[in-house]
Amino acid sequence: LRIGVLCGGRSEEREVSLRSGEAVYRALLAAGYHDVLKIDVGFDLVEQLKENKIELAFLALHGKYGEDGTIQGLLEMLEIPYTGSGVLASALAINKIAAKKIFALEGIPTPAFTVVTRREVLNQGLEQAAARAIKEVGVPAVVKANTQGSTIGISFVHEQEKMSAAIESALEYDHDVLIEEFIFGMEVTASVLGNHDPVTLPLIEITSVTGVYDYQAKYTPGMSDHIIPPRLPEEIQSKIKELAVRAYLALGCRGFGRVDFMVKNDEIFALEVNTLPGMTATSLFPDAAKHAGIDFPELADRLVKLAQE
Ligand code: DAL
Ligand code: MG
Repeated sequence: LRIGVLCGGRSEEREVSLRSGEAVYRALLAAGYHDVLKIDVGFDLVEQLKENKIELAFLALHGKYGEDGTIQGLLEMLEIPYTGSGVLASALAINKIAAKKIFALEGIPTPAFTVVTRREVLNQGLEQAAARAIKEVGVPAVVKANTQGSTIGISFVHEQEKMSAAIESALEYDHDVLIEEFIFGMEVTASVLGNHDPVTLPLIEITSVTGVYDYQAKYTPGMSDHIIPPRLPEEIQSKIKELAVRAYLALGCRGFGRVDFMVKNDEIFALEVNTLPGMTATSLFPDAAKHAGIDFPELADRLVKLAQE
């Protein structure tokens, strides 16, 4: 089986993706796959896939053109099987607003939110849009570029006067901005593995030296910590796992995914599903797998098998 590890690409998360790609590449070799090739995804992708006779694509991409359904669509057309979720689930999950609307329909709790679009800002003005967001969600709020990962384009707004600047900076990345109630609590992530009958791996509580789990905290060694299992009662952990599987299935995910939550006392809020979670050696998903007794090579092997089901 000739496997292409697709990484790099053109998203804001290119650097993270290159690290995921390298880690996955090594894991596949260690798992006994010897016909493995790393491909940095560019405009020549189709030629690369054809020339190298790639039979299965292992996606180690994050963000735009990787996690958003576009490359999944291309691979479907070329009839090349690939790891992880398909076109629709990928497109829904990367769109935090669409995902939250589905969570709401499915009774999966998610923080209160409103949306500011570029259209509203152009028509009504930035200040007016910010005032509406404050009226509807209040502060503290988290302002997010709708389709970014790795906390790129995110601001934590504690004072009303800072809302318009936060919206403006999120608009640099996206036409739609999500303004979410800030939940002051514990950040917990649930790793989900499987196709039709997915299982959850051990939950991880995330702590950060600076108090926010931002880009720097995520990718600088020593800036954040994984606490496994989280310091939460057993029944809350079970509830989080149940919600994680429901969120995963609600969006139609397959292969694997990581569902991020905020937990405040006994209230649980689903934030989003990452359909191509970080796969660097120190990333959350491989760490959760390790605590379930699944080392990185075995995890890579399972993802290949799930892609072939
Ligand atoms: N978006 C990053 C890669 C993650 O969710 O792990
Ligand atoms: Mg994400």
